[in-house]
Amino acid sequence: MRSIEFKTSVAVDLYDANEISPKKLQDLIGREKPQGQHHMRYTPFDLRAARYRAAGIDINDFPNLVDALKVPPVIVCRMTKGGVGKTTTAVNLAAALAMMGYRILIIDADPQASTSNLLQGNTDSPEVDKHIGHFMLSKADGPDDDLKSATVPVFEGGLLALLPSDITLAESDAAVVTAMSLHDRAHRFFNRNREYLGRNYDAIIVDTAPGTTPIALAFTYAAKTAGKILAVVEPVGDCVRALESLRSNLTEIAKNTDAVVEMEIIINKFQPGRTHVKDNMAVLYTRYGAILNETVVPQFSKFARQMGATAAKRSTPLVESDPTSVGARALIDIAHSVIQTFGITHPGLPIPSRSEG
Ligand SMILES: Nc1ncnc2c1ncn2[C@@H]1O[C@H](COP(=O)(O)OP(=O)(O)OP(=O)(O)O)[C@@H](O)[C@H]1O
Ligand SMILES: [Mg+2]
Repeated sequence: MRSIEFKTSVAVDLYDANEISPKKLQDLIGREKPQGQHHMRYTPFDLRAARYRAAGIDINDFPNLVDALKVPPVIVCRMTKGGVGKTTTAVNLAAALAMMGYRILIIDADPQASTSNLLQGNTDSPEVDKHIGHFMLSKADGPDDDLKSATVPVFEGGLLALLPSDITLAESDAAVVTAMSLHDRAHRFFNRNREYLGRNYDAIIVDTAPGTTPIALAFTYAAKTAGKILAVVEPVGDCVRALESLRSNLTEIAKNTDAVVEMEIIINKFQPGRTHVKDNMAVLYTRYGAILNETVVPQFSKFARQMGATAAKRSTPLVESDPTSVGARALIDIAHSVIQTFGITHPGLPIPSRSEG
């Protein structure tokens, strides 16, 4: 479990999208720099307290403000093509939101377990006691008593927790198809556990496997509550085609079930100056302009170095290890935008508004 601290400029970046001044933020936080410390260091809890103070609500009421009847907003990251940055986006988005003070559960729904490896700091796939497949196959009607013990704390204070996966999740993919009607298994998991989830988390992020695996489909169906998924693409030709296939996938789901699920698109690994990239960006803007996130994530080498290659260098999400880098700042921007588009907030507070421009 890690404790998180950051300097003033990062706190300002994380606090909100409206460019609060450092002085104003310090006033809202209402905490002096400890003696002997050179610079003020902030924590995610400072930022959460500042939001309550700005809204004139006593943070001590926090437990009473929790709405335990609602499943928190669920953000499902998907793409039919592999290696586009689903895991990078999901993990850094989760870490950014947690650094902002939101309580985030990230569900690793990919048997390759990249999210689990990245967040648990090692390169070896951990052996997992119970992964999401276990819960999707559970026949329980009521809440799953073993959900709490299956989640692993990543950041201290309940800010970031992981429901990890390992390669055995691949068996669940097969079992979901053969054992029972598959499409509502993730939706039912969320609903029967809404009390526990609503009490403990402000948002849930799901990283899925590439392709159209049964588990990825089940989470796409579950995204009907949010109304959309987050589609991650690279501006290269086959990705643009993958986007078409994801769109027909959504159309197919709408035709066969009650789920109307749209997508919001994140463009990742943007490299300016390359002709084919320019052409593909033009296609993306023409065909998908209305549903593109306004932040484009650049190709940035430090993303590739998030994964620690040795025991000495542990894996850490970029927003945590280098929050002022251009790559991290892009993900922090995206975090601010999904707070609004997916309606993420703290218990008892309205969804923050964002000024234009
Ligand atoms: N913006 C970026 N700049 C540079 N490298 C990136 C960027 N985004 C992702 N990468 C790197 O690309 C590789 C694939 O990224 P990632 O694992 O996030 O993709 P994925 O879509 O989850 O893959 P899979 O389909 O296997 O689950 C990783 O090595 C990652 O570090
Ligand atoms: Mg992945």
